[in-house]
Amino acid sequence: MTDVLPDATERFARAAIAEPDETLREMESRGEDFPTVGREVGQFLRLLARMVDAERVFEFGSGFGYSAYWFAAALPEDGQVVLTEHDEDELDEAREYLRRGGFADRAVFEAGDALETIERYDGPFDVVLVDHQKHRYPDALDAVREKVRPGGVVVADNAMVSGAQDFDAILDALEGGDPDLDAESRGIAEYLTTVRDDPAFETSVVPLGEGIAVSYRR
Ligand SMILES: C[S@@+](CC[C@H](N)C(=O)[O-])C[C@H]1O[C@@H](n2cnc3c(N)ncnc32)[C@H](O)[C@@H]1O
Repeated sequence: MTDVLPDATERFARAAIAEPDETLREMESRGEDFPTVGREVGQFLRLLARMVDAERVFEFGSGFGYSAYWFAAALPEDGQVVLTEHDEDELDEAREYLRRGGFADRAVFEAGDALETIERYDGPFDVVLVDHQKHRYPDALDAVREKVRPGGVVVADNAMVSGAQDFDAILDALEGGDPDLDAESRGIAEYLTTVRDDPAFETSVVPLGEGIAVSYRR
């Protein structure tokens, strides 16, 4: 797997942000063998939520609640983060972690397929995190395109790397080539080209964690 950042830059990015609270640190220990967004991206997501005065956040793929916890801390008391997860044990863990953080009232826990769950929500959302099955990223974008308010943001994790994702082939596709892509890489490449070419969005890829695509809805 290609590293997104050189080690020293990664250390720099880590050292320049404040220590997270005790529950987040515990979640990080829990997440050592689980693909959370990681601390640098978590901090960035919380900052982003604050910058757009987020009140409602929707996540595709919440695991045991690490990214949702970062979001929840940025929301007002009557704000809402919708967690979606098809593993009910992970969702139970998320419920417990968010309760411990004092965020139970601003979290909604939806068991099942995130793409089915989103159909039951009207929006508008201020921030959406796409972090579920890579081959279904384009479907998630399609599902939230009209549900993110103008001035809101869609963030896709693993924009650059993840597991077997083919970095070089995705780059080739972004540069106009026609590479052979496995299903996951095809999902990411299609997501990135679609959102890049959509005049309703303005996108940058930020090389934190495994790379996040941040798309502002005009
Ligand atoms: C990369 S992890 C999410 C990590 C989480 N966003 C965080 O940073 O803490 C992806 C999660 O999405 C879940 N998942 C994958 N596809 C899903 C789907 N279609 N609907 C609901 N959950 C899904 C997986 O079970 C897994 O827990």
